[in-house]
Amino acid sequence: MTGSVPAIRTICCIGAGYVGGPTMAVIADRCPGIQVTVVDLNAERIAAWNDPDLSRLPVYEPGLDAVVGRCRGRNLFFSTEVEAAIAAADMVFLSVNTPTKTKGLGAGQASDLRWVEASARSVAAHARGHTIVVEKSTLPVRTAATVQAILQAAQGDATATHDQATFSVLSNPEFLAEGTAIADLEQPDRVLIGGDDPQAIEALASVYAHWVPQERILRTNLWSSELSKLTANAFLAQRISSINSIAAFCESTGAEVGEVARAIGTDSRIGPKFLQAGPGFGGSCFQKDILNLVYLCGHYGLHEVAAYWQSVVDLNTWQQHRIARLVVNNLFGTVTGKRLAVLGFAFKADTNDTREAPAIRICRDLLEEGAELAIHDPKVAPEQISRDLGSAPSASGSGLTGEGSWQVAASVEEAVRGADAALILTEWQVFRELPWADLAAQMRQPAWVFDARAVVDPEVVRSAGLRLWRVGDGRIG
Ligand code: NAD
Ligand code: UGA
Repeated sequence: MTGSVPAIRTICCIGAGYVGGPTMAVIADRCPGIQVTVVDLNAERIAAWNDPDLSRLPVYEPGLDAVVGRCRGRNLFFSTEVEAAIAAADMVFLSVNTPTKTKGLGAGQASDLRWVEASARSVAAHARGHTIVVEKSTLPVRTAATVQAILQAAQGDATATHDQATFSVLSNPEFLAEGTAIADLEQPDRVLIGGDDPQAIEALASVYAHWVPQERILRTNLWSSELSKLTANAFLAQRISSINSIAAFCESTGAEVGEVARAIGTDSRIGPKFLQAGPGFGGSCFQKDILNLVYLCGHYGLHEVAAYWQSVVDLNTWQQHRIARLVVNNLFGTVTGKRLAVLGFAFKADTNDTREAPAIRICRDLLEEGAELAIHDPKVAPEQISRDLGSAPSASGSGLTGEGSWQVAASVEEAVRGADAALILTEWQVFRELPWADLAAQMRQPAWVFDARAVVDPEVVRSAGLRLWRVGDGRIG
């Protein structure tokens, strides 16, 4: 398209999920002159977004309730009427799910693009006039070509219900992290807009310019933008695998990974963030996006590059198995029939999200060894744990049958009662301040604390008479 920058008065976002909901709420909040409608096929989810009780929104994020409370019904709407919202929109965001394929070509690596294609086809069928289509989902590089092909086919389709629909496609990936989504959206390090239509790019930039300084709005071509999102997640995950590899080395050599992280992080070229050793990264995106990168590199014949990024995921998997193994080894080589308190199940603190949580693989390994797990997490529901572990809780325990069993504990005290060990797998604030002397009195001796998040004070734990393993801490042992 040529000419002046189109004014954006109405936005439709397809996908009222973790990204679509909060992102559109912040746009509506900061741009009172733009009407924003978030649509989804999932009627239950839309009903939850419309719930008068703001504590029952389908996504929990600090500050989200206040933002939604300010704009909902004013210029922010949640609806299942996808077609009408597309027809009314100057700009449509695609913010649908893109999970890893579970079967067929590229299973286990490639992104499943069925929801992206379906939403692009909806736009093709129902858009009116000139519509700017924005990829907000995280997508394989060159997906915009697919979206463009679907939209162009509609432009030439004489049977289409609309006339004169024209399109520009942009890439505008989202960099928010769970738990800090509103702060990340309100004060982003950068907003990235990729495209080949300068007017469309400036139209989207003008939306963000309501609250984001111009120098933080980056413009690139489509493919750089799509690839930058995968690359950002790959680099962040790579730092975690790097520090976890060094953590293991610290444990063998008497070094302490926190000290090493501080020493290298003060080098301004390296920087201090994302150097916290732990049980490996979890969450819905890091693994999915790196596997997608690996798949794409393979597709383009870049096998060494694919192997390099695959090693980031492999190290992460290894770290989780390593932790389960060292628990078994330290408990005299067997955990069959032993009660182990698992403290934390969420993939990180301040969320009830367990997608790809390290706790899942570690608990599964320990169940395989016949352990009786007592799992306590301040926010994760028992049904979720059941789904993740693929088994129901058992009240009676499995004893020496070797079968392995688990149950939920309502408190840390309940979890550790009679336990041979406590494993800290999520860095919840409460786990940093536990009364270890009192807890030790409830445990079967000799008892261990396995601190996979380096949150306990070693002196406090050891003076309570407990044995301690702390990730990356070679000073103890
Ligand atoms: P989600 O699963 O929470 O939400 C996606 C929503 O899209 C679902 O509610 C689904 O019903 C809806 N949907 C799918 N197809 C549809 C269609 N054709 N019409 C209408 N609705 C449809 O996913 P999410 O966590 O919001 O992630 C969305 C995208 O953003 C993914 O590509 C993800 O990788 C990326 N991303 C996620 C995060 C995060 O922290 N969750 C951060 C940055 C980027
Ligand atoms: C991550 C990125 O940080 C976001 O920028 C990105 O938009 C998002 O993925 C996405 O694309 O979905 P998120 O997964 O919500 O966000 O959470 P992070 O804070 O990045 O943590 C991911 C995992 O890494 C967690 O399991 C966390 O415990 C672990 N982690 C993080 C460490 O083990 N060490 C660290 O130093 C940092």
